[in-house]
Amino acid sequence: MTGRIVITGAGGLVGRVLAGQAREQGRDVVALTSSECDITDAAAAERFIAADDVVVNCAGFTKVDAAEADPDRAYAVNVTGPENLAQACARAGAGFIHLSTDYVFSGAFPEGEPARPYDIDDETGPLSVYGRTKLAGEFAALSAMPDARIVRTAWIYEGGDGTDFAAVIRRAALESEDTVDVVADQIGSPTYVGDLCAALLQIADSSIREPVLHAANTGGASRFEQAQAIFSELGADVDRVRPVGSDQHPRPAPRPPYSVLSEVKSAAAGLTPLRPWRDALAEAIAAAGPLPSTP
Ligand SMILES: NC(=O)c1ccc[n+]([C@@H]2O[C@H](COP(=O)([O-])OP(=O)(O)OC[C@H]3O[C@@H](n4cnc5c(N)ncnc54)[C@H](OP(=O)(O)O)[C@@H]3O)[C@@H](O)[C@H]2O)c1
Repeated sequence: MTGRIVITGAGGLVGRVLAGQAREQGRDVVALTSSECDITDAAAAERFIAADDVVVNCAGFTKVDAAEADPDRAYAVNVTGPENLAQACARAGAGFIHLSTDYVFSGAFPEGEPARPYDIDDETGPLSVYGRTKLAGEFAALSAMPDARIVRTAWIYEGGDGTDFAAVIRRAALESEDTVDVVADQIGSPTYVGDLCAALLQIADSSIREPVLHAANTGGASRFEQAQAIFSELGADVDRVRPVGSDQHPRPAPRPPYSVLSEVKSAAAGLTPLRPWRDALAEAIAAAGPLPSTP
């Protein structure tokens, strides 16, 4: 097991679950929320990092639509932030793991070629400010610290009482008999946050030297298929989930129509592949339990 795990962005979905999982394993954890450590402030980033730590940067400007209207802030958090952390880790002699996204890919394939899962060395082509800043953050981290590790993941959910996609669909299934319209033309890698955090801890302990890894539950699904699977796990009527096109839900930021992440080269580099997305989803929904009763 490595030395301390220092988590930035510890108030977010991944940061919170990672801190809990690491503590359960008896690790020494320093969990820093945005108010304790603003990663855009180089001095703040430096203050908490010591030799032999592994810093896992879970901080990010993650509001994909809001980033279109605030590219400077998105750049500061998604590019300057990881660059500051990588420089601080390099100076201190700490390890550095930085999270990135499937939105670095475009989802566009050459005419006549079927879509296929993206592997770590496939050509990128982000469509949005969020995707472009996340890709620039990968380069910034690796140029400041060539042995940093970038972990791309996708469509993270917990499925509990929060605001992630699975949580929202779970409440829709349980709270009413209404139908729910869900886009069927975006296909990605739904990823259970607990599985992602286990992979991050494996990477923290490992000597994997591949600079970019993919960590996502395997297989691919549309948002519509994911929502139907949630309904099915809850015993709700799957026909209440209705497929619609993205054109019926226009958003400020374009999403890739296809962004499934391949585990093949990450597995060859030594990362245990995450389980199939459908198995993980069944466990997540079971773990979420019933809705809290209203007083
Ligand atoms: N969620 C997904 O589906 C998904 C998919 C692919 C990749 N990722 C990547 O995974 C990482 C974690 O995502 P997440 O889902 O856990 O996001 P999240 O729940 O939005 O958490 C992000 C955290 O970053 C913090 N933060 C923002 N600006 C900061 C700053 N300047 N300094 C320090 N902390 C700051 C936020 O704090 P405040 O709330 O206080 O601002 C928040 O706690 C991000 O890098 C994201 O790009 C996420």
